[in-house]
Amino acid sequence: MIDLHSHILPGVDDGAGDLAEALGIARQSAEQGIEKIVATPHWMTDGYGLTPEVTAERVRELQASITQAGIELTVLPGAEVLITPELGRLLEQGLISTINHSRYLLLELSFREIPDYTENVLYDLKVMGYIPVLAHPERYQDVMADPNLLYSWVKEGVLAQLNAGSLLGDFGLRVQQTAEILVQHNLVHLLGSDVHSTGQRKQSLQPAFVRLRELIGGEITRFTDNAQNVIDNLDLKSGSPIYYREKKGFIKRLFS
Ligand SMILES: [Fe+2]
Repeated sequence: MIDLHSHILPGVDDGAGDLAEALGIARQSAEQGIEKIVATPHWMTDGYGLTPEVTAERVRELQASITQAGIELTVLPGAEVLITPELGRLLEQGLISTINHSRYLLLELSFREIPDYTENVLYDLKVMGYIPVLAHPERYQDVMADPNLLYSWVKEGVLAQLNAGSLLGDFGLRVQQTAEILVQHNLVHLLGSDVHSTGQRKQSLQPAFVRLRELIGGEITRFTDNAQNVIDNLDLKSGSPIYYREKKGFIKRLFS
């Protein structure tokens, strides 16, 4: 298994606080059968974020400690970038890490409100040759209210990454239900843990894959193949997105 979204790098964001915790996450991950984990520390324009050079250095240091501790896990570089209208320029300036140096960029939107400039930024990224991977869309208020927001973007080539914990109910019933809708409508392509600690936001990729298999059976290989293709910078095989039509209950039908 490959984990494309993690906050395993110690002391750089709200993820692992120190090396001991990072090694704890590494151990949990290896125990769940994860072979590769992408370190995606938060990147925000207000000076919160590492350059690709610093990320590479921190990944090398953590890898050395993981290997020394006898844990079989490979750490790859990346970032989880909070959307900004300046994103194109910042990428041009070489300030932001993509997933393992690929075209795939892990992009985060605001949980409360998707900004107006989002479509412009997604378009700019496409023109520049990047492929945006939207982190945890099932957690955004606007996507919960209307899953088809994602439909139009996915049709344009945007990818989306579901959080393992969302499928397991860690963020509440509404997020879980949205996650299931997105899976069943081919609106998500990748599964990541978004692990932050060994405690409350621990590694849960393996149990999430068990849940995903309950939902879509053998089709889960699409998710595992996609993860491999992202880190290898290859094209993804994804089914066409399906437009979501809300199943209205009796009362809602009566009044609509
Ligand atoms: Fe994250």
